[in-house]
Amino acid sequence: MPETSGSGAPAARPHLTGTVVHGAGRGHGLGFPTANIAAGPDSPVPPAAVYSGWVVRHRTGAVHPATISVGSNPTFCDTAEVHVEAYCHDLAEDVYGEPVTVWFAERLRDTVKFPSPAALVRAVREDVRRSEAVLASDHGRRVRDDALAAHRSTITAP
Ligand SMILES: Cc1cc2nc3c(=O)[nH]c(=O)nc-3n(C[C@H](O)[C@H](O)[C@H](O)COP(=O)(O)O)c2cc1C
Repeated sequence: MPETSGSGAPAARPHLTGTVVHGAGRGHGLGFPTANIAAGPDSPVPPAAVYSGWVVRHRTGAVHPATISVGSNPTFCDTAEVHVEAYCHDLAEDVYGEPVTVWFAERLRDTVKFPSPAALVRAVREDVRRSEAVLASDHGRRVRDDALAAHRSTITAP
């Protein structure tokens, strides 16, 4: 995903705001529980792919490293319905019902119809490894700083 041009204003970075909703419930069994995000009306959904990024929880202001899937989960589903799912690397807590913003740092790969759930799990492990490297890079840290700055600017002073 390209760096923002010009001033690099935080709001110009690709992001998506929505609410965490229940998914099909497969993620826990596969070993990577995901937060399924219903995008808000002002948040266009990016093209189907796997991304590296950060998830900001509006209630706590915490920012979590994540690997994000945007796609129809073709390994399991035959429908065209697009799901946005974030696997937060450091978050065990249930965030159902919470508003969150996903800040996309880099596109990692195309969505694939895998021959088995085990093949998907192997690919996700590799995605997470690559995502961690992206998020630890200078670019990844800049995206995190901009995400936090954008979040703070939306909090109204008392
Ligand atoms: C990092 C990541 C990569 C994914 N890549 C694919 C993919 O290439 N193909 C696919 O069918 N599903 C992919 N998924 C989506 C999984 O199929 C989905 O998370 C799983 O079925 C659980 O769905 P649920 O939360 O609705 O239960 C990916 C999910 C994550 C977190």
